[in-house]
Amino acid sequence: AKLLVLHGPNLNLLGEREPGIYGHTTLAAIERAMEADAHRAGHTIESLQSNAEHVLVDRVQAARQDGTAIILINPAAFTHTSVALRDALAAVALPFIEIHLSNPHTREPFRKHSYFSDLALGVIAGFGADSYRFAMDAALGWLDKHAA
Ligand code: DQA
Repeated sequence: AKLLVLHGPNLNLLGEREPGIYGHTTLAAIERAMEADAHRAGHTIESLQSNAEHVLVDRVQAARQDGTAIILINPAAFTHTSVALRDALAAVALPFIEIHLSNPHTREPFRKHSYFSDLALGVIAGFGADSYRFAMDAALGWLDKHAA
């Protein structure tokens, strides 16, 4: 099956960005580990990071036609702001897992609300770069049960 991994704004700076909150692991290292896990399980995987809401909306829309079986997404700041990205995921009606490095519930009040969580298969947050590993494990388990 095909997995699509989407990363929202500022996640290109992982490794340098507020390391006390987000850790020292780079996005490239996270993507390499996810690719290895997906390939080992016999799947294909594509990753995209963008700081632009419309780029992510367009990529989600394209997933309707390109054989994507499941989406793993850290919407980053768009978690708390983007009705447009939420609507795109609702429109394509593909299963997705929401990921966060930090636990937004321990932080500023404006991070407590997510436009995604009520549509997600599940949410993994608070484990730093390991959140992506756990989300990949969840996605592979879901695919075993639900996809060909
Ligand atoms: C984040 C949490 C968001 O609140 C924040 O805007 C981010 C990263 C996380 O992975 O912990 O950019 O999604």
